[in-house]
Amino acid sequence: MKSLWGGRFSEKQDDFFFTFNASFRFDVRLAEVDVIGSMAYARALSRCRIFNEEELARVNAGLEQILQKIRKEPEWLEESLQAGYEDVHSFVEMELTKLVGDLGKRLHTGRSRNDQVATDLRLYVRETIDRFLSTIADLQDSLLKQAEANTHAILPGYTHMQKAQPILFSHYMLSFYEMLKRDASRLKDCRKRVNVMPLGSGALAGNSLSVDREALAKDLGFEGITANSLDATSDRDFALEFLSVSSISMMHLSRLAEDLILYCSDEFKFVRMGDQVSTGSSLMPQKKNPDALELIRGKTGRAYGNLMTLLTVMKGLPSCYNKDMQEDKESLFDSIDSWQICLKVMKLVIDTLTIHPETMLREAHKGYMNATDLADYYVAKGVPFREAHHLVGEIVLHAIKAGQTLGDLPLVEYQRFYPGTDNEVYRAVSLESVLAKKASAGGTAPDRVREALKAARSDLKI
Ligand code: ARG
Repeated sequence: MKSLWGGRFSEKQDDFFFTFNASFRFDVRLAEVDVIGSMAYARALSRCRIFNEEELARVNAGLEQILQKIRKEPEWLEESLQAGYEDVHSFVEMELTKLVGDLGKRLHTGRSRNDQVATDLRLYVRETIDRFLSTIADLQDSLLKQAEANTHAILPGYTHMQKAQPILFSHYMLSFYEMLKRDASRLKDCRKRVNVMPLGSGALAGNSLSVDREALAKDLGFEGITANSLDATSDRDFALEFLSVSSISMMHLSRLAEDLILYCSDEFKFVRMGDQVSTGSSLMPQKKNPDALELIRGKTGRAYGNLMTLLTVMKGLPSCYNKDMQEDKESLFDSIDSWQICLKVMKLVIDTLTIHPETMLREAHKGYMNATDLADYYVAKGVPFREAHHLVGEIVLHAIKAGQTLGDLPLVEYQRFYPGTDNEVYRAVSLESVLAKKASAGGTAPDRVREALKAARSDLKI
């Protein structure tokens, strides 16, 4: 049992409780940032004359050695997990002391694990956000590539899961590009509040060494320093924001997953999933299952759960640090891992997806998805929209009974409903015209989609 305290106690801590209380098995992830934070803190301490030049150099050489071992010797870290450290902070300080002797014991002067862990976590989340920004951009790039490669594919668009209006497949891909763009923007916004330094706040009340917090923040690449030590040591809003951003983004991924699960089914056959990301059945030889997408959909529940976990851990906590807050890490790390892997798997799914434009087109001709355009045609002839709506409803009902599409219905039939109908009606209900007319900004008209693709490409700059 290796702890950073003990003088006040006369009896040995219970082994079972030690394990319950210890966080090293999961906060080991913070090892690198803990060392980096400690190096900067050592420099801050030397400015307060706790270390002279030579001592600082020794302490930081020791910390550098630990950092290199963390980076290059995973088995050392693995073994250290069995060595009975209470947490990552105890581990780093005690390993340092092994290397530099009593000097290592001076490193914690004025610092508390409360401001230390808050700082570590912020450094870790900041790094994570930067990594995510490029993972998100990679998936956006794959969506764009599919959109660019299939600009002629026409897909039935659904509302209420009923055929609604035809859209371009590229337009559909771009819709998810936009969602991911907002996710990235939310992350960037969250980063601003993450990138504020709590170090120098002590356990709760501040640091009595008058450390230059501004200089320390600069050293660690923080944009600024926290303004209140009580808040700084017990604020986990930044982690909650991250979990919320990840939940929203996972929700987006789950919707794309759901669409593709449907679209690759035998009933739709709009797309074919790559064998690379599909699985078979142990019993039914014919099966090919979209497990990758189902897992993404499933892991979304987990992301929401992690957000709820931390919100609930934080709810009603008395001011300042409470040990409950140690429970912040596992949910946060779990969400980081599953979001990261889901973005990468989704990229693989999109990269290996085959589009079936002929099936999409065949289906786009069905379902009277040009009915609104027929109504618009009558509106252009002077019929008020509400009447045109009713008129087209009757025509559609007739066409359904006759087993015909609006494109096949003979002109005489149209004229029975509206004598002024002319041959122009066939152009009006053709897929080409239906699509071309959705030319409002953000619409699915091929010209608009071409512009949107171009804009997305120049925006993404991968
Ligand atoms: N392992 C602790 C955590 O993650 C570090 C802070 C401990 N602070 C304390 N006052 N015991 O929250």
